[in-house]
Amino acid sequence: MSEHQLLEPEPAPAPEGPPPVITCRGLTKRYGSLFAVRDLDLDVPRGATFGLIGPNGAGKTTTMSVLASLLKPTAGEVQVAGADPARDPGAVRRRVGYMPDVLGVYDATTVEEYLQFFAGAYRLPRKTWPALFDGLLELVDLTAKRDAQVNSLSRGMKQRLSLARALVHDPEVLILDEPASGLDPRARIDLRTLLLTLREMGKTVLISSHILPELQEVCTDVAIIEAGRLLASGPPRTILERLGRGRRVLVRLAGGEERTFTVADDVEQARLLRELLAEGLEIIEFRQDGGDLEDLFLSITKGVVQ
Ligand SMILES: Nc1ncnc2c1ncn2[C@@H]1O[C@H](COP(=O)(O)OP(=O)(O)OP(=O)(O)O)[C@@H](O)[C@H]1O
Ligand SMILES: [Mg+2]
Repeated sequence: MSEHQLLEPEPAPAPEGPPPVITCRGLTKRYGSLFAVRDLDLDVPRGATFGLIGPNGAGKTTTMSVLASLLKPTAGEVQVAGADPARDPGAVRRRVGYMPDVLGVYDATTVEEYLQFFAGAYRLPRKTWPALFDGLLELVDLTAKRDAQVNSLSRGMKQRLSLARALVHDPEVLILDEPASGLDPRARIDLRTLLLTLREMGKTVLISSHILPELQEVCTDVAIIEAGRLLASGPPRTILERLGRGRRVLVRLAGGEERTFTVADDVEQARLLRELLAEGLEIIEFRQDGGDLEDLFLSITKGVVQ
């Protein structure tokens, strides 16, 4: 994979401040001759909203399943909220909420009964349940559906219920496998708002997606993986800077003329606007052109980074 050499992952940062909540060193999961995940290093800082980005088959679900203690790795060291998922799955499951990418089968269960089942499984005291469910249903905007059959919910509502279920034991870490898949644009915006709320609550969130512009807005850090390998990781801006790609700004002038500029950051973008105004141009539109992260993702995963 020589085309990826430009994007050798940066060495793990020197330890400073509190230790990361999730770390992987050399995480490898092999199925026969196929490496679903290969020598993956990850550091997810406490409180981060961390996007795991990659195309189909990149290894996102495999990585998340290992972190959630549902799958044993072939090799590597993993720590999640202070415990090793392979050696101490109980500790990890108490501290982690996992939202799988597939919706389960619910049979004849109401929304409330569904939450009761998981609250029971986590042995939460019964007297705390009513207030807990009130809060969770409000958070995911399903209060009106408390007595509805789970089977009668739309896909988006099931996704939200699944998230409520992942939160039932108030975990410090959330692992959300493609929570935006199958959601309509409105529901995606709601999900973004919810992710920001979770960040304000102090949760560390690992979220996977191929839907990139959304993650760019909501994620503090991203890791881009393909074929089980880490291609780049860090804050979205830092990755862009490392690639030296800058950001494109599209300017449309009265009369229809369009000009495109490349700037490095907010400061340069503000300066550009000042300069254009000082020239006396009649600016109709001034905006960033396209989803930076999507461009970045396509160029990295196709190996065509200039
Ligand atoms: N149980 C399994 N047995 C054999 N191969 C598997 C198994 N699970 C996953 N794989 C393979 O491992 C690779 C990574 O799969 P994974 O599901 O982790 O990808 P993903 O990034 O989640 O993809 P998607 O975006 O499609 O959900 C794929 O090549 C897949 O076929
Ligand atoms: Mg997957």
